[in-house]
Amino acid sequence: MILAIESSCDDSSVAIMKASDFSLVHYEKISQEEEHAKYGGVVPELAARLHTAALPEVILRAKEHFSALKAIAVTNEPGLSVSLLPGIVAAKALATALNLPLISVNHLVGHIYSLFLEGPIKLPLGVLLVSGGHTMILGISENGVISVLGATSDDSFGESFDKSAKMLGLGYPGGPQIQNLALKGDDRAYDFSLPLKGTKRLEYSFSGLKNQVRLACLELENSRIPSKNSRISSDKSRIPSENSRIPSEITSQQKANIAASFERVACLHIIDRLKLAFSSQKWLRFGVVGGASANLRLRGMLENLCASYDCELLFAPLEYCSDNAVMIARAAVTKYHNKDFCQNLEMHPRSSLENLKII
Ligand code: KG4
Ligand code: ZN
Repeated sequence: MILAIESSCDDSSVAIMKASDFSLVHYEKISQEEEHAKYGGVVPELAARLHTAALPEVILRAKEHFSALKAIAVTNEPGLSVSLLPGIVAAKALATALNLPLISVNHLVGHIYSLFLEGPIKLPLGVLLVSGGHTMILGISENGVISVLGATSDDSFGESFDKSAKMLGLGYPGGPQIQNLALKGDDRAYDFSLPLKGTKRLEYSFSGLKNQVRLACLELENSRIPSKNSRISSDKSRIPSENSRIPSEITSQQKANIAASFERVACLHIIDRLKLAFSSQKWLRFGVVGGASANLRLRGMLENLCASYDCELLFAPLEYCSDNAVMIARAAVTKYHNKDFCQNLEMHPRSSLENLKII
């Protein structure tokens, strides 16, 4: 069995997987979402403190399996350095105490492996990775080599949901909040422009769309009729930024319209750039991974896209789309079979995926 630790952002998670048949023996995740929600996003110092408190507890709850372990795996890249570090320290301590080898796992490779949790998948494969930290179109060759075909030049897809939700005064994480509110809104109420429209650049950009959400909020705030009970002054210089909460005076219907219009264009941008990739790659299989792959509108649009290219669409099981140690354990088992151990495990908060191998 391999014990894997994941702590690259705001989840402290441990999983144990059998190396022989990839079956899951143990899994626990402590999410910090509630604590960060008060601040509308992940606060690194708080994340570090919570990981330091949670990891020893979560690891000790797997104690009954310690004697069957053959290696300790841990996410060592990329991620928040203050979050990666407690996981790495815990993994090193455990490996030393139990006299076991260490396996390092790239978090993004872990997300790709979430596709393999229900069984093997034939390569080559196209992959869309949409999370809070990354938005990438990847090609995986027949022998498992990963190429980054396109990535975001500014915000990620998930981050644009988080920041738009914050401007609308919704909770964190913003993805599910926007998705739920959008169901009640008119997705054509705002004619937000499609990023990179008409260009042939295989990349993403969400910061302009985020700014359009900000301006829509500002316009509503400025056009509202001040009431006697209003807490907000009519001072036009009070411009909402992504770090400020939008006043409650914007009606919930107006918020829903902004959320729906934003979600429609954000998903359309994903599909619009994917069409470019699909026209040059002849993928027979296409996988979608990362926390934001839970988005239902995106899933529907991806189904249509893949159907039109006669390409099989694959998703990770919903509960393993967001960060978890199970995908890290799955990646680690393959490394264990390849005897790919790490003598000197180092942290790389800003590493890339280029030229890594998944098998
Ligand atoms: O993969 P993940 O758990 O963490 C990272 O590695 O970043 O992804 C979290 C991101 C957050 O930005 C969250 O808002 C987004 O995924 N997300 C969604 C949805 N559910 C989660 N974005 C859009 N729609 C959703 N339903
Ligand atoms: Zn992730």
